[in-house]
Amino acid sequence: MFDEGIFKIFDESGEEKKDTQTQEIEPIETITASKTYVVSVGGSLIAKEKPDVALIGKLAEKINMLQKEGYRFVIVVGGGKVCRNYIAAAKALGASNFIADSIGIAVTRINAMLMIQALDNAYPNVLTEVEKSKPILDSGKIPVYGGLLPGITTDCVAALIAEFLKAEFVNLTNVDGIYSSDPKTNPNAKFYPEITYDRLIALMKLAESKPGQNVVLDLPSCLILKRSKIPAIILNGNDLENFVSAIRGYEYRGTRIIEREEQ
Ligand code: UTP
Repeated sequence: MFDEGIFKIFDESGEEKKDTQTQEIEPIETITASKTYVVSVGGSLIAKEKPDVALIGKLAEKINMLQKEGYRFVIVVGGGKVCRNYIAAAKALGASNFIADSIGIAVTRINAMLMIQALDNAYPNVLTEVEKSKPILDSGKIPVYGGLLPGITTDCVAALIAEFLKAEFVNLTNVDGIYSSDPKTNPNAKFYPEITYDRLIALMKLAESKPGQNVVLDLPSCLILKRSKIPAIILNGNDLENFVSAIRGYEYRGTRIIEREEQ
């Protein structure tokens, strides 16, 4: 299990189960308060040809609900197709990779501004420093980021924040998780409900070496997850009930990254 099911004290309807024992039960706030998730929201999910207002709104709704239950979130928003168009335009105009990435970062921050509008309890400005996430979380607000630095990705930003906060990493993308190869082009691709950091790194290296492959997680992100053994899951962000289930520690479809395979 990704999470030890702290919500088992709730029945199916979401009502708190009555404790028939006489001893006092721990208040829910203290049970859930420490659970922090850094959610990397793929641009490919929420910003295709144009921002997907419906999906941004639905995702924010779920995060609003889960935050009220006591879970803490940091949100990192990606760039998507719009961003890729700007990067291509910058390059066509002779921009260096550094400048093209800086333009990409600006677009991720615009997407992050949209996410802030949809959340009930977000810190009102897009953040640009990893360390600021902690005091903002402690104040009860949701820190929202876009990109941070040329040469990396928003998944990498999310992995670094998860490392800093000792939090869990959740990647919301537009596929169900990790496959042995691209499921859109290979119907026989094997789906991994669990994968070790090492196998994931090997798969991503292989995919990155083939031109045109869209890897789910880039190599630097995988290496950060591995070096700090950050608990991590990859989910399809189009299925938000599945996302809620994963956060609450129930069953979900997705890939969990593990340290080693069970013997
Ligand atoms: P991402 O590649 O992280 O966004 O950033 P994305 O569209 O969500 O990616 P998917 O959906 O996971 O495929 C978009 C671009 O912005 C620049 C890079 O050029 C990156 O490709 N960027 C982003 C940075 O240079 N640094 C950052 O910290 C983040």
